[in-house]
Amino acid sequence: MTLPTIRACLAASLDGKLSGGARMPDFTSRADRHRLFALRAQSDLILVGAETVRSENLAPLIRDPKLVQDRVANGLQPHPDVAIVSRSGALRWQSDYFSHPVTFLLVSPTHPPEMPSRIVYVPVDQELGAGMHRLFDLGYRNVLCEGGGRLIHAMLAENLIGELHVTLAPTVLGGETDLARGAWLNPRPQFTLSSVDQIGDELHLVYLSK
Ligand SMILES: NC(=O)c1ccc[n+]([C@@H]2O[C@H](COP(=O)([O-])OP(=O)(O)OC[C@H]3O[C@@H](n4cnc5c(N)ncnc54)[C@H](OP(=O)(O)O)[C@@H]3O)[C@@H](O)[C@H]2O)c1
Repeated sequence: MTLPTIRACLAASLDGKLSGGARMPDFTSRADRHRLFALRAQSDLILVGAETVRSENLAPLIRDPKLVQDRVANGLQPHPDVAIVSRSGALRWQSDYFSHPVTFLLVSPTHPPEMPSRIVYVPVDQELGAGMHRLFDLGYRNVLCEGGGRLIHAMLAENLIGELHVTLAPTVLGGETDLARGAWLNPRPQFTLSSVDQIGDELHLVYLSK
């Protein structure tokens, strides 16, 4: 079965970095955050790399009450489910991240013995694509991959991203959190520009996979 299009959504600086460090995590505008909530509101599953889970707290996924109301009116859960991609399965299961009232899934070759039974385990070997097929078998159709860079690299390497939303913020962050963290990609994923919005000095770009 062909996979439905997986979207990815990232905020990057002019030097292509995803993070300003734990002390200054936000580097984009309110408009960008609203776009993120709107994309989440269209999704039934958020896909996120384990390092992002280990380094960030999970605030309510959609912070705009109107978007939540619209989902509920359409028979959806208030917030999408969250699937964490990990090889090690090493996550702090007792942390606040897992206290949010959403369904969590772990996509991993490892089933951690200490993982709470309410977390849905999705087995996957080296190929992420097989894990994506299992997620679609579970009924997820609108998947939003939110990175970070190592997960995006792995998804791009398997040609799994059909639509790439990138906010380009007018700042330079330095550091090592590249948008795609990993070896040279060969073949290189190619995209075609679908839309550009400028809000102030920020660009909101949507690319479609060729
Ligand atoms: N600006 C943005 O839009 C944005 C979005 C998200 C995150 N971030 C930032 O990005 C940083 C984290 O990014 P990151 O690149 O270090 O890490 P990441 O992509 O969030 O997570 C990497 C981890 O994901 C798992 N993983 C990756 N590829 C895999 C594969 N093919 N199969 C199975 N598991 C796989 C591994 O987990 P294990 O180690 O558990 O095996 C790996 O260590 C944080 O600072 C975060 O705040 C920014």
